[in-house]
Amino acid sequence: MVWRRWKLTAILLIFEVCVEVKSSLIPHTFTDQGIVKKGGMSAVSEEGTTHSYSEEEKTAFADWINSNLADDEDCKPYLDIDVNSDELWTKIQDGILLCKMINLACPGTIDERAINTGKLNQYKTTENLNLALNSASAIGCNTENIGAADLQEGKPSLVLGLLWQIIRIGLFARIDVQHSPGLLNTGVDPKDLLKLTPEETLLRWVNYNTKSTGIGNITNFGYDIRDSEAFTYLLKQIAPSDSGVDLGPLKEKDPEQRAELMLQNADKLGCRAFVTPKDVVRGNSKLNTAFVANLFNTWPALDLPEEMPDIEGLKETREEKTFRNWMNSLGVSPRVNHLYSDMMDGLILLQIYDIVKPAVVDWGRVNKKFEDPGGNMKKMENCEYAVELGKDMKFSLAGVRAKDIFDGNETSTRAVVWELMRAYTLAWLQDLKGSEAPIKDKEIVDWVNTALQEAGKETSLSSFQDPEISSSRVVLDLIDAIKPGSIDYTNVRDGTNPDERFSNAKYAISMARKIGARVYALPEDLVEVKPKMVLTVFACLMGRG
Ligand SMILES: *[C@@H]1O[C@H](CO)[C@@H](O)[C@H](O)[C@H]1NC(C)=O
Ligand SMILES: *[C@@H]1O[C@H](CO)[C@@H](O)[C@H](O)[C@H]1NC(C)=O
Repeated sequence: MVWRRWKLTAILLIFEVCVEVKSSLIPHTFTDQGIVKKGGMSAVSEEGTTHSYSEEEKTAFADWINSNLADDEDCKPYLDIDVNSDELWTKIQDGILLCKMINLACPGTIDERAINTGKLNQYKTTENLNLALNSASAIGCNTENIGAADLQEGKPSLVLGLLWQIIRIGLFARIDVQHSPGLLNTGVDPKDLLKLTPEETLLRWVNYNTKSTGIGNITNFGYDIRDSEAFTYLLKQIAPSDSGVDLGPLKEKDPEQRAELMLQNADKLGCRAFVTPKDVVRGNSKLNTAFVANLFNTWPALDLPEEMPDIEGLKETREEKTFRNWMNSLGVSPRVNHLYSDMMDGLILLQIYDIVKPAVVDWGRVNKKFEDPGGNMKKMENCEYAVELGKDMKFSLAGVRAKDIFDGNETSTRAVVWELMRAYTLAWLQDLKGSEAPIKDKEIVDWVNTALQEAGKETSLSSFQDPEISSSRVVLDLIDAIKPGSIDYTNVRDGTNPDERFSNAKYAISMARKIGARVYALPEDLVEVKPKMVLTVFACLMGRG
């Protein structure tokens, strides 16, 4: 009965909300990438000022920054950000908080030695922002439509779009079988669990924890959670017995009051984050997803499965992750969660072809819907087209068949993705050259050596397999040749042992990003001299040179 009454309330509420925020819902829809797309109208707030962003998000993200960076000495001068004012836009302007947020999301991404601190002029600020943006790309944020100038001006919708992507990546980093094998208890084949989006995985986790209550499954973090019922049961289920978390909120009839009581329970678990009672009642799915992700990360409450599956085979390799981050940074839609299964219908690959070589894809030829009957055939046709385009573009795809892509064959999929990444990295060089013949490695190596010589550096490069690359000294010298004085050589070690090599590589990657090279490679790639990723590092730097 309560349920029915609540349903009615919910319907009325939706109506109310629709009337109230009709105009504010339309102007910005959020894509999977969290990028704000502005529509026709903008909402007018009570004060009569025009906003094209969500106040709720501003409050939520500023609050998250306040609580998560509080212990960082470099951040102290900036905190607390007043969540009720427009301080957020000015506090992130010099890039420091953004760099710190990126390291919070993916620890170790940015070498702190590369961040300019202290009193910053325009130039040093821009360097920090470039470092932040290029590092954000490297962890998989879509930064296609944001530049350092937008951040310096503190453009609200762009700042929120970027912050959400960074926060989301951090929140979702561990929501998979590899990091939380207990997820297998939620009753799913390990292989399928790998393919689920983090949102889908979280839904499974919530439903698993509320299974015994009989309230039924929720299917989204918007409409379905507005009555706080699933959240109240979830909190009770995952809370330690002495935490004082109970089912009390369910006795409260007023939805917003009930949400408040539910959030007080979350507070007892140290997890009152991202949402206000209003955000719950209005079903703000983005913020409620963040709320649940944070709960999962803090109180997973999952036992290890009785039979531990072979997790090794499910682990994402470094290369797979780099490919995936690269594709996501280009803004492909939907986001790539799994390198192989997400390529099987050919659509992502074709989107990337179109980015690498604009207008190369004849979209009239591409199937976008795959209903049966014939759905698989349509996917297969896309894969055939993707392989055909690769051959047209002189990709080296010996032995790669469309069927392999369609089947999710790892070797073949990686081969196509790598050729695309290579072409993307070299696209501007290819343009410059004006011929279809692919750029040869030697052309890049020669350029590097000339640049090093002209700057009077002692290092040189024989090939992308040169063992000397392992110390990263040649990369650091090249950066300093391109931007004289940019490398602080007191930070550079000889590279005689693994620690020194890693330290140099980490510094080199961050410095390359700071001078404007969008490098996707990781320090490990330099230390281990992985020729493919090494090529991308030098090619990107050549682009800056
Ligand atoms: C809820 O979801 C789980 C897993 O997705 C499924 O096994 C179960 O049958 C669903 N329960 C209901 C009542 O739909
Ligand atoms: C995957 O593709 C490669 C060619 O790239 C091929 O040699 C291999 O046999 C394929 N594997 C399967 C299981 O089809």
